[in-house]
Amino acid sequence: MKIVPLVERPDLAVQVAVWGHGEWGHLNSGETLEQRIIRIRGKMNVDRVPVAFVALGDDGGITGTASLIFDDLEGDPRNPWLASVYVPVEHRKKGIASALVRTVEDAARRLGYARLYLFTSTVPDLYAGLGWRPLERLDYRGEHIQVMDRTL
Ligand SMILES: CC(C)(COP(=O)(O)OP(=O)(O)OC[C@H]1O[C@@H](n2cnc3c(N)ncnc32)[C@H](O)[C@@H]1OP(=O)(O)O)[C@@H](O)C(=O)NCCC(=O)NCCS
Repeated sequence: MKIVPLVERPDLAVQVAVWGHGEWGHLNSGETLEQRIIRIRGKMNVDRVPVAFVALGDDGGITGTASLIFDDLEGDPRNPWLASVYVPVEHRKKGIASALVRTVEDAARRLGYARLYLFTSTVPDLYAGLGWRPLERLDYRGEHIQVMDRTL
């Protein structure tokens, strides 16, 4: 398995957008898939935020994605954020999400950030197991979310 910035594999931007649209489309309900594709293409950076990463299998196929973005929770002044961690069902439970999280942490550190944030409604235990600290719980766009942070 290897993890590269999406900018090295622009052909995978549509798949990243399709996953995100299916998993989190309800959080941005006005956004079409086409608009999400354009937004994902805006994350094709290396040395500045936002940056999307993709995990690749031995055959070069995509096995997951995660992003480092500046803002995530609307109206929240904290930044930057780990976001859009997604591994398709057939590749789960092999440590791919954990490796993606570490990659985003490393990228944030390299860009000079001392702290990174995330929110999750599904897997706080996954992040706690990787050293993330639970902060507050919030109701956000109809979901109960846990905000977490990590010192880099
Ligand atoms: C959540 C998700 C990213 C996990 O991906 P993964 O590659 O299977 O995760 P890993 O293999 O790195 O698992 C890391 C740890 O988290 C645990 N974990 C993984 N999925 C979990 C889940 N759904 N519930 C509880 N714990 C989970 C694993 O057991 C593992 O713990 P261990 O190291 O003690 O064995 C994947 O299931 C997914 O894409 N789900 C849908 C999207 C989503 O919810 N993303 C998170 C948004 S915040």
